[in-house]
Order: sequence, then C-alpha cells, then structure tokens
Amino acid sequence: MLNCRVCGAAIKPLMSFGRMPIANGFLTPSQFSEEYFYELAIAFCEPCGTLQIVDQPDPGKMFHEEYAFFTRTSKRMVAHFASYAEWALSRFLTRPDPFVVEIGCNDGAMLENFSRRGIRQLGVEPSANVAAEAERHGIRTVVAFFNLETARKIRDRNGPADAILAANVICHIPDINGVARGVAHLLADKGVFIFEEPYLGAMIHKGSYDQIYDEHVFIFSAQSVKNAFRPHGLELINALPQTTHGGSMRYVLARQGAYPVSEEVERAFANEREQGLTRAETYEAFRVRCERSRDELAGLIRGLRRDGRRVAGYGATSKSATVLNYCGLGPRDIEFITDTTPIKQNKFTPGTHIPVRDHDTFAKDYPEYAVLFAWNHEAEILEKEAGFALAGGKWVKYVPDVSIS
Ligand code: TYD
Ligand code: ZN
Repeated sequence: MLNCRVCGAAIKPLMSFGRMPIANGFLTPSQFSEEYFYELAIAFCEPCGTLQIVDQPDPGKMFHEEYAFFTRTSKRMVAHFASYAEWALSRFLTRPDPFVVEIGCNDGAMLENFSRRGIRQLGVEPSANVAAEAERHGIRTVVAFFNLETARKIRDRNGPADAILAANVICHIPDINGVARGVAHLLADKGVFIFEEPYLGAMIHKGSYDQIYDEHVFIFSAQSVKNAFRPHGLELINALPQTTHGGSMRYVLARQGAYPVSEEVERAFANEREQGLTRAETYEAFRVRCERSRDELAGLIRGLRRDGRRVAGYGATSKSATVLNYCGLGPRDIEFITDTTPIKQNKFTPGTHIPVRDHDTFAKDYPEYAVLFAWNHEAEILEKEAGFALAGGKWVKYVPDVSIS
C-alpha cells in the first residue's frame, strides 16, 4: 500500500508514464548500459488534494555535483527572479538588516538581487556544481538538502530568517514535512516563506503532463499547499498566479495569525473547486488526454520522418524526458536537440539517447521541423529564432495540443 507523503492517507496510482530515466541524467555512450530506470506513475490524494509521483529515485541520483540545470540559461527567468526579489523586498523585508534564505538557490540568479543591495543572504543548494556557480557570483551557499537539521544550523549561526524563498524547488523535495519543520524553525515571528512552482491548475488546463518527472514529486495547488503546511503552524496568506514555467503559483506562508489572509487565497480555492481539481474524475480525463497527446505527437513525427523530413528538438529540458520516453521517440525520429547548457552538450538524452548539440549546430543548418521542448520559454525562443521561421522552419508543439506552426 502507498501512503500520501503529505498526510499519510492511503493512495493508489491513477496512471503510469512507463519506464523513465533520471530526467536531468544526460549521458555519454559509455554510460548507456548502466542507465538507471524507474516507473513514473502518479497518484492523487483526495483527503489533502496533493498530486504526487508514486516512486521517486533516490535524491542523490538527481541532485549532485554534475547537476545539469542552470537558472541563468533563460534571460527571462533571470528577469523574473529580479522582479520576484524586488517584490519580496518591498512587501516583507522592511525591517533593518533583514536576513534572506533561499532553498535551492541554484546558480544564485535570485539571491544576487539581494547581495547586490548588501542584504544578508544565504543559499541552500544540494548540487555542488551549481552552488559553486552561485559562489562565483558572490552568494554564500551551504551545500545541503533543506530540512530541520539544516535549518537549525542556519538559525544558530545567523539568527532567524525574515524571508525564506524558493522557486521551482519545494515540489522537488519528497519529505515535505521535513521542509515544513525546517521552515517553522528558521522563520522569524513575522517572517514569510514564499515559494513558486508549476501549478496543478495550469497543468490540468493545458494538458502539460511533461511537468511530471522524477524531480517534481508534487504538483501543488493552493489547497494542497494549505493542507501541507497547516499542521506545522504555517498559514497560506497569499496565492498569486505567475506565467512562468507554463503557469505557476506563488505561495506566501507565515506563522498562523501573523498576517491577514489575502482574498486571493479564497479566490484560488474557488477556482480550484470550479476546475474540479479536488475530484478524481478530473484526473481520469487528464489520463485520457495524455494518451491522446502521446499518440498524436508520435504519429506526427513518425509521419514527417516517413516523408523524409528533418526533425530536431529545441531545449533539452527535464520535461522533455517524460515526453520522449512516454512517446517512444528516439534518434531515428529526432536527429538532435539543441540546448545552450554546456554540461548537456555532446551528451545524449536520458533513456532515448538523442544527441544534444550546441546552438550553432541548429543555426548553421536549420532542420525543417523543430519540436519546442522548452515550450515554457516560447516567447523568448520564438523572438530569438525568427530566422528559423524565415528560412521556412516549422515549430512542432504539444502544449496545449499537438500542432505545427
Ligand atoms: P526549463 O524549461 O527552464 O526547465 P526544465 O529543465 O525544468 O524543464 O529548461 C530550459 C532548457 O532549455 C535549458 O536546458 C536551457 C534550454 N534553453 C535553450 O537552449 N535556449 C533558450 O533560448 C532557452 C530559453 C532555454
Ligand atoms: Zn494526502
């Protein structure tokens, strides 16, 4: 029997995406034979409303000294974190000498906005290589997973945190109760815990099943966040929709009663009820939509290849691991995937072993079709790649529906 990681209730899988590799596990041919696989299945817990993956690989297999995701690869995300920091500063960090902690600070793209202003800050980051990049940008980091023990050490050395921030990180941590205990310990009495993540409502609305992969152990809603943190004395005081990562939600939590609860919270709950996020049928319809999307995308690409067309991919995202493996697409279907991240280049995609190439490979000899795996950066990419369309190139998209444009 399986138990919900949030509330402990019994849960059962609602669908499986099949055998999956580590989503950020880009590899060299010598590593193919020892590649690690697990089954990617999801379950929905009705009592607390949390969508979660059933089995997650050991976190040490995902977050380590060769972690492949660097925030600074997207200019718009860097700009987004500058405005996130600005917003947190003006709203919540008004007392003298505030202290800011970021859980999962990656390469320091967010905390840099605080260090630049001389604000005391500390990043917690388990992947040593990205933490080193943050240090190079002048960010103090501790290489650790965030939990009660880490929180104790931070508080003992620095005092309580006025803000604990995170972005696209809290959903990575299976021991969500450990995170909540750590936050409850570290936060100042009037401190705030702010995090944003891909939003369940957006995923269901767009059919963007590629948000589901090993690192994303939870896909949160406002309701599930409220339920996860309430037992630890933390109250959801605001929920603000964001356009990043194809539709995210920013959650603000504080100690119970420390701040008034914004009406946005009730609005989010009402939207979630209306969208059926609390009902099992919604997830059954989602499963059917995933299967249709898989069949359409695989059929479209195979059809193009039968007609002798050249098809490449754009953005070797973690999300694409779910799509490629679920749809059964490999190097005969997709010639290469272009990506600007040096650590991914000249390696092969996890599970499906499609070569990853630098941007020049794409720009010097455009394919006829490019599958937009980094669809969450569509505006940034289409603007940058106007030349591809001018040269007659077509984008293949699969969110919200499979299409060619
Ligand atoms: P992203 O969608 O942010 O994350 P995830 O891995 O969580 O799904 O990853 C974007 C990837 O796309 C990253 O590997 C960098 C790459 N990329 C490009 O190659 N070119 C671009 O212009 C942008 C915006 C991203
Ligand atoms: Zn639950």
